[in-house]
Amino acid sequence: MLLKGKKGLVLNVTNKNSIGWGIAEAAAEYGAEVGIGAQNADMTSRVQKLIDGNDAYKLFEIDFQDDAQMGVLVEQVKRTYGKIDFLVHAAAYAPREDLQGRFIDTSRAGFSLAMEVSCYSLITLCRAMEPLLNDDASVMTLSYLGSTRAVDGYNVMGVAKAGLESTVRYLAADLGDRGIRVNTLSPGPVNTISARGVKDLAGILERVHERAPLKRPYGQRECGLNAVYLMSDLSLGVTGQLIYIDSGFNVSGR
Ligand SMILES: NC(=O)c1ccc[n+]([C@@H]2O[C@H](COP(=O)([O-])OP(=O)(O)OC[C@H]3O[C@@H](n4cnc5c(N)ncnc54)[C@H](O)[C@@H]3O)[C@@H](O)[C@H]2O)c1
Repeated sequence: MLLKGKKGLVLNVTNKNSIGWGIAEAAAEYGAEVGIGAQNADMTSRVQKLIDGNDAYKLFEIDFQDDAQMGVLVEQVKRTYGKIDFLVHAAAYAPREDLQGRFIDTSRAGFSLAMEVSCYSLITLCRAMEPLLNDDASVMTLSYLGSTRAVDGYNVMGVAKAGLESTVRYLAADLGDRGIRVNTLSPGPVNTISARGVKDLAGILERVHERAPLKRPYGQRECGLNAVYLMSDLSLGVTGQLIYIDSGFNVSGR
């Protein structure tokens, strides 16, 4: 089992459609112990139902905007696992009105909120967890092609993802001396609660699936399998990189 003996966190999960859940399930399938995050009490009780009766998982509550909760999380993780081998940042947020209108009308408050939750949170998370990360641990986050292209309806989230991808490179530079890798997974559109905030998700999904070179679907499962690769020792020489999981859509000229 590729991840046998490894322990880590996947933050956060909303429901069974979350990309984070696809990653947590794959990690557990390959032998890891997985701590799953939920943003608040309501989500915690829903996510609890996903993991009920399965010893591979533990549940933690964390809102990235709450510094006190971050401190509590560190203590809980230390008590539960001691040290950890992987850390998956799978969270983003922007106000719906800043995704639906013209990008030029992005509000100052919406811009700050999107950057704080979707980008800065990776920095705070890594800083808080650094003492708990084993040497050679693997950190990863999730981005989207809207970071490098002006994708209709992605707006301020595209700017936050551009910042996130850059953040990954700087964190890779900071943490590399202990062998800690920091990478980005970049899936194509996947139907999740967050993605439903993007205008015409169904149309975008259809276009991507039609134009992608690989005539096979991709989704939570493919994200999970790529995450397992990054968590495992198979990717020991890889840091600061971005892997597209979109059946090749990003290279298509169509
Ligand atoms: N669904 C897609 O099409 C797609 C494509 C590429 C990248 N991604 C990225 O994948 C990641 C997971 O999103 P998803 O699509 O699985 O949707 P999701 O709604 O299932 O997950 C998003 C998570 O972000 C969490 N979150 C939001 N604000 C938070 C905060 N303040 N503190 C802590 N957690 C917070 C939510 O609780 C939720 O669990 C996100 O970074 C998203 O941008 C999604």
